[in-house]
This record gives sequence, structure tokens and C-alpha cells, in this order.
Amino acid sequence: TPGVRPLIAGNWKMHGTLREATALAEAVQTGAKPGAELLVCPPFPYLVPVGGALAKGGVALGGQDCHAATKGAHTGDVAAPMLRDVGATYVILGHSERRADHGETDAVVRAKAEAALAAGLIPIVCVGESEAQRLAGEAEPVVTGQLAGSLPDGFAAAGGVVAYEPVWAIGTGRTPTEPDIAAIHAAIRGNLESRFSEAGSALRILYGGSVKPGNAASILALAHVDGALVGGASLVAADFLAIAAGV
Ligand code: G3P
Repeated sequence: TPGVRPLIAGNWKMHGTLREATALAEAVQTGAKPGAELLVCPPFPYLVPVGGALAKGGVALGGQDCHAATKGAHTGDVAAPMLRDVGATYVILGHSERRADHGETDAVVRAKAEAALAAGLIPIVCVGESEAQRLAGEAEPVVTGQLAGSLPDGFAAAGGVVAYEPVWAIGTGRTPTEPDIAAIHAAIRGNLESRFSEAGSALRILYGGSVKPGNAASILALAHVDGALVGGASLVAADFLAIAAGV
């Protein structure tokens, strides 16, 4: 999207040791080139040391989830202000793995996104259809329905990010065709513009799902693809950097 700086985000999911996490962060920071904005989202226990490894700047830090409440009796959960407190500026919300593993609904994701905004974090809200929904021709209505339910009103004003991740493309080595990616991204753009007017035109829409160095450049060249949310390939610094070099 013209005038929009692409975002290449690494979702490290539940991978790696502390030593691997800090080494990966250092390698990403050392190799970072001007161009795309880079973001890494390590597991919670590694946020502080990874933030330390990124102290020279140039690579942003994010969480993989947050709770909708600012504090309280929620064993095992992490609040948005805590993420902000340890230097995170982004938080991934509504990833399909959280929707599946933790039963997160659109309403839950929206409440978490509101908490993120209130804490000064930029939410990256994930949407995407299942393979059955894709085969039934329902990808677009599923995605626009998830947007309607998951995005809070303050989303655009805060520069929120949408990540389109078809569930069947995550970790499978399969991706939609480029026309199919372009069609969903155009639909997301239309949805953001109709809801948020002009502010919706400048929001970043990331593609996620089996992004690798070999397919990144052509996916990132598609209209309304303003970056990538990378899983497996973000665990190898050279691959993550090669993807970022493709913008
Ligand atoms: O959030 C990113 C992710 O779900 C994509 O994972 O491993 O297919 O790049 P992967």
C-alpha cells in the first residue's frame, strides 16, 4: 500500500530455549536492513531477555497474546500493561491457534484488542478461514465476519494491524494462490475502509501462512499485502531476514 511501511513480524510461538531466543534476536538485529519494520514475538518468559538483546533498537518486541483485564486473579495470564512495561509495542491477538486451543471467540479477541489499545500496544489481529470454509467458497465472508467481531472501534486510530492467516496454510507449506491472497486482502481493505473511512486505507494488512524466503517477495508484491506474519521461518534469522529483504 503506497506510503505504508511494511511490517515483517516473527511469531516464535512456543519454540526455543532462552539461549536460542537471545541468539536469534541478536542475529536478527545484527542483520536488519533499512526497509521493512521488523518485529519479533517470543514466548512470554523470553520477552525481557530478548528485549535486552534488542536494546540497540531497530527491531520491535511483541507478545503473542494478552488478557482482556489490566490485572487480577487470572492465573497463567499476562496483562497488556505488563507487556508494555517490559518493552513490547505490539501484541498478536486472535491467532487461529489461540482460537482453537483456548476457544477464543471474536468477542474475546475484541476485548483483548481493547485492552491492548488502552495499554498503548498495537494489536495485530489475526483472521482466516479453515480449509472447509475455503472449499465451501466462504473464505471472504468468514474473514469479514471475524473483522467485524474482533476489531474494536479504536483500532484504526491506533494504527492496528490485521493479519490474514488461512488456517490451512499455517505450518503446512501450502499457501493460497496469489490471486486468492490478493482477493482476500482487497476484501479486508474494503472492509477496513467502510468501517474506518480514510484511516482504514493506511492500516497494514499482513499475510501469514507458510511464508518462506522463496515465496515472500511475490506475496509481498501483491496489492494490499503490507507485510508478513511469519511462523516457522522466523526461527531462522537468515530466513527471516531474507523474507524482510523481499519487501
Ligand atoms: O503467525 C504466523 C503463523 O501462524 C504462520 O506460521 O509456520 O506457517 O509461517 P508458518
